[in-house]
Amino acid sequence: MTEIETTADRLERSTDAASLERSRARSLEIEAEIAADPSRFRVLTGDRPTGHLHLGHYFGTIANRVRLQNAGVETWVLVADYQVITDRDGVGELRERVLSLVTDYLAVGIDPAKSTIFAHSMVPALNQLMLPFLSLVTEAELHRNPTVKAEQEATGGRALSGLLLTYPVHQAADILFCNANLVPVGKDQLPHLEQARVIAQRFDKRYGRAVKDRPVFRRPEALLSEAAVLLGTDGQKMSKSKGNTIELRMSADETAAKLKKAVTDADRVITYDPEGRPEVSNLLLLTSLCTGEAPEAIAERIGDGGGGTLKRVVTEAVNDYFAPIRARRAELAANEDYLMQVLRQGIERANEVAEAKLAEVRAAMQMVY
Ligand code: TRP
Repeated sequence: MTEIETTADRLERSTDAASLERSRARSLEIEAEIAADPSRFRVLTGDRPTGHLHLGHYFGTIANRVRLQNAGVETWVLVADYQVITDRDGVGELRERVLSLVTDYLAVGIDPAKSTIFAHSMVPALNQLMLPFLSLVTEAELHRNPTVKAEQEATGGRALSGLLLTYPVHQAADILFCNANLVPVGKDQLPHLEQARVIAQRFDKRYGRAVKDRPVFRRPEALLSEAAVLLGTDGQKMSKSKGNTIELRMSADETAAKLKKAVTDADRVITYDPEGRPEVSNLLLLTSLCTGEAPEAIAERIGDGGGGTLKRVVTEAVNDYFAPIRARRAELAANEDYLMQVLRQGIERANEVAEAKLAEVRAAMQMVY
């Protein structure tokens, strides 16, 4: 790591800040447009099936998807099973994880009557878009993607696989194949979305003459999430590998045991101070997300009750909030036939749309024989 900031770095940082500001402002406008007419939007979003969903996922992104779906926005939810192998050799317990993810989706309120849940490995026409798309990006562009760089660093110096380098292009295929024009993202995913827009533009510029009347691909926009970031029970970044997560599928008792071991500090008077007291504040935030009460007010009520009281309060809040979701989850998990039926139905729908899109692409590229 170098300490010297070059002009190029500074420029990158300032344009990042400016584009983040623009994305924020645009996201507010989009929210207003959704309220006025949700039918203008189609959302595509998804997850890698690498583990079980936890409360960070739920409050960070999943609850927002349910909100968009229920606001009347057509929602496509992708199980990104091919992304599992971007930075690892094996797939692990893939089938179990995919089914667990589908179970989580349904339990939190993703409704298969309104939303399409599918696994992208099962959609050949989507995957075929990768070939023309790869011809539209340069190798230098791929190497510059900050998220790819960060993920590469996180793998601890492991050689960069071709799939990790090109997964933003695959992700563009995920978004563009189904005519999605809205992708709810955190700010780390903004470069991917920009890449998808660039690919859509370049495709139409290069091949659009064959279909003069309208572009082959819609231009997707980011819907930036302003969700507060939950930390793990140890006050560190929440991550499955650190064992500091509470998973949706855990029981009330398992949740209580996890929260009992949560890190707090020696000050008995509970205050909400995310900078100075990250661990205590994180438990207050989690309580707040579950009850809707402001974290400061919760802190005030606990007063000098100390970490013990705080843990009791947060455990009760989490277990109350998730009780109905967990009950539904247990029911769903016992019915694998139904889960498979939902997934297959989503896959079928995705294939219909993907084949139609690939046909348009072939026509534009004059590859119809
Ligand atoms: N990269 C996302 C994740 O890590 C999953 C994903 C794959 C995705 N393709 C996408 C998200 C397209 C949004 C749009 O969970």
